[in-house]
Amino acid sequence: MNYEEYKKAVEELNRYAYHYYVEDNPITTDEVYDKLYHEVLAYEEKNPYQVLDNSPTQRVGDVVSEGFHKALHKSRMWSLEDVFDEEDLKKWLARIFKLDDRASFYCEPKYDGASLNLYYEGGRLIQAITRGDGVTGEDITQNARTIKTIPLKIDYEEPIEIRGEVVIFKSEFQAINEERAKNGENIFANPRNAAAGSLRQLDSSITANRNLVFLPYGIGQNTLDIPLLSKRMEFIYSLGFKTPPYRAVCKWLLDIEKVYAKMKDERDDYDMMLDGMVVKVDQIESQESMGYTVKYPRWAVAYKFPAVEKITTVKDIILQVGRSGVVTPVAVVAPTNIDGVVVERATLHNFDEIQRKDIRINDKVIILRSGDVIPKIIKVLEHERTGSEIEVLRPKECPVCGSELLDEGALIKCQNLTCKARVVNSIIYFASKQCLNIDGLGEKIVKALFDSGLVKSVEDIFSLTLEKLLALEGFKEKKSQNLLDAVENVKGCDCWRFINALGMEHIGEVASKSLCSEFGLGFMKAEKNDLLTIEGIGEEMAESVLEFVRVNEEHILRLTEILNPKIPEPKIEAKDNPFKAKTIVLTGSLSHPRGEIKEMLESLGAKVSGSVSKKTDMVIYGDDAGSKYDKALELGVRTVTEDEMKEMLDD
Ligand code: IVH
Repeated sequence: MNYEEYKKAVEELNRYAYHYYVEDNPITTDEVYDKLYHEVLAYEEKNPYQVLDNSPTQRVGDVVSEGFHKALHKSRMWSLEDVFDEEDLKKWLARIFKLDDRASFYCEPKYDGASLNLYYEGGRLIQAITRGDGVTGEDITQNARTIKTIPLKIDYEEPIEIRGEVVIFKSEFQAINEERAKNGENIFANPRNAAAGSLRQLDSSITANRNLVFLPYGIGQNTLDIPLLSKRMEFIYSLGFKTPPYRAVCKWLLDIEKVYAKMKDERDDYDMMLDGMVVKVDQIESQESMGYTVKYPRWAVAYKFPAVEKITTVKDIILQVGRSGVVTPVAVVAPTNIDGVVVERATLHNFDEIQRKDIRINDKVIILRSGDVIPKIIKVLEHERTGSEIEVLRPKECPVCGSELLDEGALIKCQNLTCKARVVNSIIYFASKQCLNIDGLGEKIVKALFDSGLVKSVEDIFSLTLEKLLALEGFKEKKSQNLLDAVENVKGCDCWRFINALGMEHIGEVASKSLCSEFGLGFMKAEKNDLLTIEGIGEEMAESVLEFVRVNEEHILRLTEILNPKIPEPKIEAKDNPFKAKTIVLTGSLSHPRGEIKEMLESLGAKVSGSVSKKTDMVIYGDDAGSKYDKALELGVRTVTEDEMKEMLDD
């Protein structure tokens, strides 16, 4: 990098930072920012006399914006130094062990949200200040008071600053964005921006509606006399704050790597977004003697996870037709390695989404991959457009069978029941693991069977014979016989698998099991009110069942005859008791394994469900009960301790 390039890079970083912090609307990925930032830093280290005043490395923190009163933190809020791999972590550890060879480390997640400093005095929440530039932030006490995971009172009288990250859970983030899209508002690029934006609302009722969550990660000014950070944090959690999804005290590099691998692998299962793990020296005395650089504490480091967001180019937009006829656009992107997986496709959901995000062929875009889900495009980099971008029009004809499409706005559908894509995909679904689990009936074979004319519907797979199969190209005796055996084997299948295999819209595995245990095959005769009495079945699902049965009654009856599904044994009627016919949720740590208590309650005629809703009759809770207990209180659902449950049983 020469001086000219350095100046440009600083400008570029400042532009990124403005969009990120001020507009809550990033125009690049963290990875690109971090890489450029480190290049700038390296240049400055080599050329200390050329460092520009406006270089982001000279800035301690974020931007303080207008609209709220500024407020001083009682002690400074620091940033964290990042490391990206084991090599750098080793170097960091070597520096630490040089300063204190007996140090151990508290490891906890690095949450991806907005930091907040809470000041308590006399056991009351006095003030909540955003991080700002680390010295001064914005007073957003009113907004913080609306966050349910921030206790307004704590059982500790001394003045104390409790620091943490305000986050939005992934599920909530999705719901907010769907709502915003519906109202024609800009959608948030990621949960972090949504959290920051929600925290800085001038109208605190908006903040209140966003279900923000506060996760404590540290302590500022305080008079605690506890020598270990890990123990200090346990004390903070005990005051009524949320605990991290995982935390550990480690001694050596290997332990730290193990905890890191666990968090990285499990992060998709956590409710909140994480972007790394923070490693902190556990001994407070050592922390104090190690001290701080201009920006960072020497005693802590952020061990970042590999980026899940990448920039790539849309090469094409292709159309897929699903088993219900819905036409889904899919982006073909320039192959990009994200966290060890080469991504070549990204889902676009539907054409409204393409229009909302204004995605064009040849656009540079940010894609996000998380867990097993199909990567998605979260943003178009409009400032990178060159004029060569091509808009995609809403299709009028089915790309597979050519018949006219029905454009319903969000959904565009092929209505031709015999369209190859619809038939092939319904059979693949019918045979899939979560349905009838027919070995050997995958995409390639189903397509071959369809093209040969032997199979034109799900029912036809039961009329296949060895003779017919052997006449097809590529079907040898063994392969054909295996397929016939697999098809024969599904006769007498579980009833719920049969219901699931029908592929009714909105009815998945869980709903199929409920329908089956409530009605068996009688689900076909159930009326809407009967369906609605089932936990987890709402208006839309009930309508879907009724409509499917109305249109496909004969088809279902024919399949029933062929498959003869196994109906579950009727339950023996339990004697009258306080739990009979009640929907119950168990939460917190109970004195017996949860499975045992569940079985006992079910034997009394109760239904034990995993989530709390208006239909829940009772929540039985043990120690450390969390969000399910809170939800019960919120909905006015009866809450019962385990001891009370035992008393009710004795009665
Ligand atoms: S400790 C004393 N711990 O990351 C060091 N920060 O990049 C101060 N963050 O401003 C920070 N999770 O907003 C710390 N477990 C965690 C964190 C965490 C998220 C945020 C925090 C901080 C930023 C630094």
